[in-house]
Amino acid sequence: MNTIGNSIRLTLFGASHDTCIGCVIDGIPAGFTVNPETITRDLTLRKPAPGIGTPRVEADVPEIVGLLEGKTTGAPLVIRIENTNINDSDYDELRRIPRPGHADYPAYAKYGVNHDIRGGGMFSGRMTTVLVSAGAVLRDFISAYGISVGSYTTSIGSVKDDTVYSADEIMQISHTNPLRAMTSEMEEAMREEILKAKADGDSVGGVIRCVSKGLPAGLGEPFFDTLDGEIAKAVFAIPGVKGIEFGAGFAAASLRGSENNDSYLMQDGVVSTKTNNAGGILGGMSNGAALEFSVAFKPTPSISKRQDSVDLFDEKDAELSVRGRHDPCIATRGAVVVEAMTIFVIADLLIRGGFVCRN
Ligand SMILES: Cc1cc2nc3c(=O)[nH]c(=O)nc-3n(C[C@H](O)[C@H](O)[C@H](O)COP(=O)(O)O)c2cc1C
Repeated sequence: MNTIGNSIRLTLFGASHDTCIGCVIDGIPAGFTVNPETITRDLTLRKPAPGIGTPRVEADVPEIVGLLEGKTTGAPLVIRIENTNINDSDYDELRRIPRPGHADYPAYAKYGVNHDIRGGGMFSGRMTTVLVSAGAVLRDFISAYGISVGSYTTSIGSVKDDTVYSADEIMQISHTNPLRAMTSEMEEAMREEILKAKADGDSVGGVIRCVSKGLPAGLGEPFFDTLDGEIAKAVFAIPGVKGIEFGAGFAAASLRGSENNDSYLMQDGVVSTKTNNAGGILGGMSNGAALEFSVAFKPTPSISKRQDSVDLFDEKDAELSVRGRHDPCIATRGAVVVEAMTIFVIADLLIRGGFVCRN
């Protein structure tokens, strides 16, 4: 369904080429200030990188209903963003010849011709504009409790940044370049990798590492609504996400317990860990270390290179070369979306776990 969350609930509406997209967020405590600058900054991070991404760029100034003098009132917030840059003609062919890798065929199987195919409809990356806006609203909310969330690009195609960065370093770099790379050398190499794929009429995937600092120990609602489980669910809702691993992730399976366990130590009177293979989560609850996880984005499905598909109306094989406006790499734009979903889960669990008063 289109609703996520427990103590804070977010319901999405609209579609890529509908008149607008938006969401209703219910459960944010009253009296909290919504800062339009945070929303503008986060939405800028979702925009396509200049010279690389899709030419579909919109002003994206969200209208927010439910505030009194800039503060929440306890009523639901409605965020509404107009779709202004739409071009329906690009998508006619996709109704009968589905794009390999996109949601066109399963959506046709489920909704038939009623599915709004334009721009991918509700399966479009455009919907993530709403997620980022909601995340930005809640970024300031969790920041009031000393919690921050940041991310960077660890790999694009075959270009990998193997350096291990501290949470502080990641927070600092988080907002400085459109590819979300940690160094200018990495940014350049990643840019080249994307442009090479673009020149071939193709696309590339990438991996984003997300961190959160300042979480209180004990955040998460075992057995089933664990911190990692809730994050995984929220992050897998992002179109194009194909994997997530917390801390050492799959690599932990080839370590000994003595190597994988994060030994404890007292630091300034606080229980801390020497390493962070657990990614800051044990037993589905935060353990006081930084929350750390990586998210794999697949290559953008819409590519101009010719691909095999089928004609759904004539029931025969067909070829397809996707026209329209598409990004050769969605991972770098996806970084702030991953942050937004993480922020949402943290805010929800803070209230649910009684760390923050619901009024
Ligand atoms: C920010 C963002 C932008 C996206 N832009 C495109 C795009 O231009 N073309 C495309 O084919 N897919 C794009 N996607 C990915 C598709 O929406 C996604 O692959 C599709 O809905 C199928 O879902 P799945 O990959 O999660 O299975 C984008 C995803 C995100 C997060």
